[in-house]
Amino acid sequence: MIDERISEYLRSLERDMPEYLEQLEKRALREEVPIIRKDAQALLRFLLQMKRPKRILEVGTAVGFSCMYMSEYMPADAKIATIEKVQMRIVPAKENFAGAPRAERIALLIGDAAEVLRVLCEADEVKATGTEEGLREIYLPAGACSVWQQASFTEKYDFIFMDAAKGQYMNFLPYLLKLLAPDGLFVTDNVLQEGSIADSKFSITRRDRTIHMRMREYLYELTHNDALNTTVLPVGDGMALTTFKTN
Ligand SMILES: C[S@@+](CC[C@H](N)C(=O)[O-])C[C@H]1O[C@@H](n2cnc3c(N)ncnc32)[C@H](O)[C@@H]1O
Repeated sequence: MIDERISEYLRSLERDMPEYLEQLEKRALREEVPIIRKDAQALLRFLLQMKRPKRILEVGTAVGFSCMYMSEYMPADAKIATIEKVQMRIVPAKENFAGAPRAERIALLIGDAAEVLRVLCEADEVKATGTEEGLREIYLPAGACSVWQQASFTEKYDFIFMDAAKGQYMNFLPYLLKLLAPDGLFVTDNVLQEGSIADSKFSITRRDRTIHMRMREYLYELTHNDALNTTVLPVGDGMALTTFKTN
């Protein structure tokens, strides 16, 4: 959404990522797996270093790039749980997590996010040792059992990153707000839809109209809900940053 010349220049200022992330990013791009873009990466890294969250929840793992990226920049004693439902993403995600430098701090919650989030909100606790209907499996890479065994996935999260099916954001929102800690930060990716969010619905192809309308509803809710404080940045494909309002 910003001039390609400026984007290119900003990218040139970015320091290199660790080699395993560079390789993972290259492979994901080659295989056309959608992953967060460079400027979105930089914003996430900055927010993680500023906020220093201890419990992170991600909705939309794909092959694990953003999860491993966040694990690299989160505090040493933080944990990150990530949700994915599609088998062709889950298989490589498990392989990637198994070899991640901070594998023991990662948990992959397998199932449809609508179901998994409902379970996390409604169950008293969900321990790494068991699952509930709707949460098909909890995959923990080697060494992760000892880190996660005391934790319940139903405890509040102080950083939530949503990067899944855009049309479902509105359905996920009530659950995510229940799971967000009072001083937590909630980041939503892809809210500007390559800029087309600003276009009239009549100029949007019929096929994309529902998603256009749903994203507009979602952004309206984030920006007009009296309990929330939101800013929308034209970074990546548009990122909304939300906290609970404080007085
Ligand atoms: C844009 S990709 C995530 C990219 C990833 N965050 C990254 O940057 O490396 C979105 C992912 O969300 C998953 N997804 C979409 N809808 C979902 C749902 N309802 N439940 C769980 N996962 C979902 C898709 O299968 C896809 O892998």
